[in-house]
Amino acid sequence: MTSSDTGAPRRSLTAVVLAAGKGTRMRSDLPKVLHAVAGRTMLGHVLAAVQEAGATRVAVVAEPGRADVAAEIERMAPGADVFSQAERLGTAHAVLAARAALEEASDDVVVAFGDTPLVTAETFSRLRAPLAAGAAIAVLAFETDRPSGYGRVLTEGERVVAIREEKDATPEERQVRLCNAGLMALSGRHALALLSRIGNDNAAGEYYLPDAVALAAADGLPVVVVPVEEAEAQGVNDRVQLAVAEAEIQRRLRRSAQLGGATLVAPETVFLSVDTVLGRDVLIEPHVVIGPKVRIGDGCLLRAFSHLVETTLESGVDIGPHVRLRGGAVLERGVHLGNFVEVKNARLGPGAKASHLSYLGDAEVGAGANIGAGTITCNYDGVSKHRTVIGAGAFIGSDSALVAPVTVGAGAYVATGSVITDDVPEGALAIARGRQTNKPGWAKAKRAALKAAKAKKS
Ligand code: UD1
Ligand code: MG
Repeated sequence: MTSSDTGAPRRSLTAVVLAAGKGTRMRSDLPKVLHAVAGRTMLGHVLAAVQEAGATRVAVVAEPGRADVAAEIERMAPGADVFSQAERLGTAHAVLAARAALEEASDDVVVAFGDTPLVTAETFSRLRAPLAAGAAIAVLAFETDRPSGYGRVLTEGERVVAIREEKDATPEERQVRLCNAGLMALSGRHALALLSRIGNDNAAGEYYLPDAVALAAADGLPVVVVPVEEAEAQGVNDRVQLAVAEAEIQRRLRRSAQLGGATLVAPETVFLSVDTVLGRDVLIEPHVVIGPKVRIGDGCLLRAFSHLVETTLESGVDIGPHVRLRGGAVLERGVHLGNFVEVKNARLGPGAKASHLSYLGDAEVGAGANIGAGTITCNYDGVSKHRTVIGAGAFIGSDSALVAPVTVGAGAYVATGSVITDDVPEGALAIARGRQTNKPGWAKAKRAALKAAKAKKS
């Protein structure tokens, strides 16, 4: 619950997102935080979560000179400030790279990591909540039987007194199972003063953000622990962990789709994106992949093995199995597409049908038009793309090629097997193929001639 829900005055929140990691273990040319999970970059997930948690100001600390990271920040958090950390001298050093953002003190500050995409907005809200009740620092932490590698949260009775990094911990401290998840909320009133006092006299020679805890505790400021599941706080360092994060986000997306009124026959085989919009009574058969920018209206049926990206289905659309939709495809009410149909950057009017084996690219298909099996829009001349317009109620015979730019008028017929290069007037029949001639008895005579020729040879 945010403070606005309780009617208390709204507190301002600055989110500092650390994204300067090299990501060596990803073995990638792409910065780690730009790797995607469920159709959104990891950095995008974090930026979305902190904004949903009410961040009024977002500061991202990134490696200098990464235009791709800057572009993603602008896309996901327009108006966010980007700060550079040239040298990686530790998490406190990284937060202080955003000093200018901290100087314009917000009530609350949260520090997030760009490589922990599973942390929800709700968790960020829970993390900052104690600040409103007077805490100077809230530490996100979990209990685990395998604490190795994590900073340990040290307590004296109820009081949190320090966080000790594994490298600096005594054997007794290493027994502690309460671990720092890394993310932290600090009161805006104290944040900068505490961070500025952090030194680097430790095993790693780094400026540790968690050292703010010991400094606050020594000053008698209240520090509290906010619990989180270890899995949610898990960072992504390599592609194995990237797949673990993908699986968790997919689990959440499937569940919310199901609770929102969609039937997923085999949920573990259906892949969704964070921006997927599903109506009520959508039925999704096994092995369907839905990439970014897809909206599906009420009562649609997506049969097995279909693949959709950047597509809108209005209500009552029935597609598949094996349909591919992309590039701004729009299927209006009641459209039916059968097996092996691909639609790209095309709009199909209400009730239009393409039941088998077609490619409709850069096209406009009118209401109720019937696209016969094997129809292809030839939209590309090797240099440019051209549009095909098919009028309402037109009938395109099977195995026709429509060479764009071309228009088939409303209600027109195109004869099977035609190659249409000229516009077809409304209501006309276009035939663009050789005429059939039958030669009675030809086959018997031909076979006899062939056999005679073969006998002569041997
Ligand atoms: C950190 C915590 C540790 C905690 C653990 C949880 C510190 C010192 N330790 O350790 O207590 O248990 O997270 O996973 O904070 N980063 C920068 N610039 C830097 C250093 C780090 O941007 O100079 C970023 C990293 O890219 C990463 C995040 O900060 O996203 C955390 O850094 P990382 O090196 O992973 O810290 P840990 O050693 O995991
Ligand atoms: Mg880490």
